[in-house]
Amino acid sequence: MSAASETPVALDERDALSHLPRDRAERDPDAEPVIRVTDLKSAFGETVVHEGLNLEVRKGEIFGVVGGSGAGKSVLLNTVIGLRTPQGGKVEVLGVDVQNATGAERETLERRWGVLFQSGALWSSLSVRENVAAPMHEHTRLSLKTIDQLSDSKLAMVGLEPRAGNLHPAELSGGMRKRAGLARAIALDPELLFLDEPTAGLDPISAEAFDTLIRNLSDALGLTVFMITHDLDSLYALCDRIAVIADKKIVAVGRIAELERSDHPWIKEYFLGPRGRAAAQSNERAEAAERTQSAKPAEPEKTTRQAAGGEEQS
Ligand SMILES: Nc1ncnc2c1ncn2[C@@H]1O[C@H](COP(=O)(O)OP(=O)(O)O)[C@@H](O)[C@H]1O
Ligand SMILES: [Mg+2]
Repeated sequence: MSAASETPVALDERDALSHLPRDRAERDPDAEPVIRVTDLKSAFGETVVHEGLNLEVRKGEIFGVVGGSGAGKSVLLNTVIGLRTPQGGKVEVLGVDVQNATGAERETLERRWGVLFQSGALWSSLSVRENVAAPMHEHTRLSLKTIDQLSDSKLAMVGLEPRAGNLHPAELSGGMRKRAGLARAIALDPELLFLDEPTAGLDPISAEAFDTLIRNLSDALGLTVFMITHDLDSLYALCDRIAVIADKKIVAVGRIAELERSDHPWIKEYFLGPRGRAAAQSNERAEAAERTQSAKPAEPEKTTRQAAGGEEQS
């Protein structure tokens, strides 16, 4: 018989883990979506960017949005978080009609979501710690001391040491700047995280580390993630479902294996072109290595990122 003291530990562990996603893709598809975009129309003057765009993001999933440069990914993100007013249609996030939200509803939404913009968008005159603390000052009445402690714990969660908190954004590497932006995005313990091209501009190793960080954080915190990316390695490594923007709307949505079978010309080119195939193969190898749980470290394989010699900017 095993030691009696082991039983409560196992129970505690089960309790602690019971809310976590085991297999994200098995999540209840009938649950009320966290994000619902209906018949969206976006235009700049005569230029129509979105028309008849529909989208639903389920609770707890990592949802990726891909599309060519200029397809309207960032405009979609800005519309979903209410920074841009669309020409038509409706956006609901966490049950709130974003475009018609009252000030109080808007304030609540901003506490329940975190955003990492493409540039990182840190305030250059503030230290990293002050950047992370800013949303807490704005949205809570916590004491200065508590905010300082919480800021350091957010930095630790994204893999930054407390002394990185004293630095200014200009003193950080690209990867550290993204991590600092992520620490600020999770400052208020959000349920929902928006990421715009989180790995763009990072070298292959930093990009892979950042993917792992996002996966681990979203598992640990039970986050729903809405991520815009053109990074195929991120799609394979991270996303539960993917939506493709082309022709001003979402032309396909599903798991990656489903999209690989699509007949849409852009999707075929994207997934079945050389970069797509390299990403799929490196993902297959990673999964095979995980299955065999080989003690022997695998040969380092070229990922799409390495094959491309780093990440391109869109
Ligand atoms: N502020 C703006 N004024 C005019 N046109 C814009 C503006 N922002 C974006 N656009 C246009 O909307 C389209 C989609 O842009 P965007 O969403 O940034 O593309 P991406 O998919 O690369 O993120 C592009 O054709 C762009 O030229
Ligand atoms: Mg963009």
